[in-house]
Amino acid sequence: MNVPFYEKIWMWAAGGIIVAFVAIVLITSIGGALQPPSHVETIDPTKVFTDPRFAHPAVTVDANGTTVVAFGMMFGFTPAEIRVAAGKPVTFRMTSADVTHGFLIVGTNANTMLVPGYVSQFTTVFRQPGEYLIVCNEYCGLGHHLMSAKLIVEEARP
Ligand code: CUA
Repeated sequence: MNVPFYEKIWMWAAGGIIVAFVAIVLITSIGGALQPPSHVETIDPTKVFTDPRFAHPAVTVDANGTTVVAFGMMFGFTPAEIRVAAGKPVTFRMTSADVTHGFLIVGTNANTMLVPGYVSQFTTVFRQPGEYLIVCNEYCGLGHHLMSAKLIVEEARP
């Protein structure tokens, strides 16, 4: 078979790209221990209120920084008002006591799902003081559109 030189270059280039794509998938999946990169912590969704991790949903500040413990439930978040300091790392630890909810702090990069049975955790920094709306962005039932809370980012005290 007579394949022109330039045709051969393109065939090898296309083959190389396919090999690279397959290699990326294999390397990242094996490197990530064959699971998505997430904080895999489980919880019994029927015992959220008595679980010591979620028995007292609140904002705590200690040597490790600010931690917000909260949960979602049809159709609200507890606590409904969260106060944190601007410019400091804030770690959110959250779960759901019933169905899957969303947790989006509008205008920030804070956005996660609250899946029953799992603890969602992420850390972020709010640079701009002010009042932010928190909404549920996963359809969770008839009151989904009512499910909201408030984040107040206070000017950091020196
Ligand atoms: Cu909770 Cu939608």
